[in-house]
Amino acid sequence: MTTFEQDTMQPTPARQFEKVCAILEQNENKPQRLIPILQAVQEEYRYLPEDVLAFVATGLDVPPARVYGVATFYSHFALEPKGKYCIRLCDGTACHVKRSIPILEAVYRRLGLSSKRNTTADMLFTVETVACLGACGLAPVVVINEDVHGQVTPEAVVKMIDEIEEREKAS
Ligand code: FES
Repeated sequence: MTTFEQDTMQPTPARQFEKVCAILEQNENKPQRLIPILQAVQEEYRYLPEDVLAFVATGLDVPPARVYGVATFYSHFALEPKGKYCIRLCDGTACHVKRSIPILEAVYRRLGLSSKRNTTADMLFTVETVACLGACGLAPVVVINEDVHGQVTPEAVVKMIDEIEEREKAS
């Protein structure tokens, strides 16, 4: 039995899983709907908590290792909590040539983050690098949650972060 299986089989209060129950119901508890179920769970929690994965496995009547295997196979799924705003900086070839690294450095500096610690303590921002966002014509590219920003500069991205922080403080 894996550590995951050993650690996640304890019962957890049902009310924590109301949303997961609804997602499972929407997908008729079908194991073949595992990927859309995990996508919906991640939308809800912004990541895939281990106890929720175990709950999904029970709900689908499949081994927890299978759910965990799918969750770890696809890079789209996150097993660690992410910030409310996920800043994804492209460092594919086109973006790298157009100086993506100074953008990354400016973002790290602005948020006090690094490649080792990529989420702010207040859980507002997570910074990730990706290989190619498929928008090379717009290089260098930064995506903040679902919003794609092309031909960005370090200053422009830092300004976006400032604006998000101001908006969050005001709300
Ligand atoms: S290399 Fe950055 S979008 Fe393709």
